[in-house]
Amino acid sequence: MRIDIITVLPELLKSPFEASILKRAIDANLVAIHFHNLRDYTSNKYKSIDDTQFGGGAGMIMMVEPIDKCISKLKTERNYDDIIYMTPDGETLNQSIANHISTKENIIILCGHYKGVDQRVRDQFITREISIGDYVLSGGELGAAVLCDAIIRLIPGVLGNETSALTDSFQDNLLAPPIYTKPRDYKGWKVPKVLFSGNFPEIEKWREEQAYKRTKERRPDLLDE
Ligand code: ADE
Repeated sequence: MRIDIITVLPELLKSPFEASILKRAIDANLVAIHFHNLRDYTSNKYKSIDDTQFGGGAGMIMMVEPIDKCISKLKTERNYDDIIYMTPDGETLNQSIANHISTKENIIILCGHYKGVDQRVRDQFITREISIGDYVLSGGELGAAVLCDAIIRLIPGVLGNETSALTDSFQDNLLAPPIYTKPRDYKGWKVPKVLFSGNFPEIEKWREEQAYKRTKERRPDLLDE
């Protein structure tokens, strides 16, 4: 998978890709991330990428031209499956969207700033608009990092243990059950006995029950879906 990220703040986005699972995925050539600084696509001498809003109103708007130049250039180089705009008024990211996007070959992620982008960018280029939650961030970069993390870990081969993404919370619309490791007893705080019974059907049954119970208590909305 190839991800092209268009941003005015590439430095804000680099560190998540320089550590941990994301770095391993890049090093193993399972994913390639390319950053494009919008200021490199400006034609004015101040390299400005934003301007005031027609009709009046507070806040600056990201202009069409630099975004058009950047996306149009990328589109001459390869076909893109999706051109995603990170915005608080997009569809809220969930596991099913992450699963879907993780199967794509080439995607562009455009990070918004200030009040957002000129509507014509959305009308002409954007195929999908994603929010990471009902709150407003100061830019789309952190949202893009969240989206990339959620999709990259789903690419086959990225997680060491192939089954581990399948047992994550949300994969079957259930939250994950409680988990424990050694020791069995810490200060009298005990691990449920069933987990070291060696009876795997019983363990599986316990986990399913716990996952259901937890989902019912914390996220009953998931059970309705
Ligand atoms: N940009 C600003 N707020 C955002 C959000 N909640 N999700 C995605 N991108 C954003």
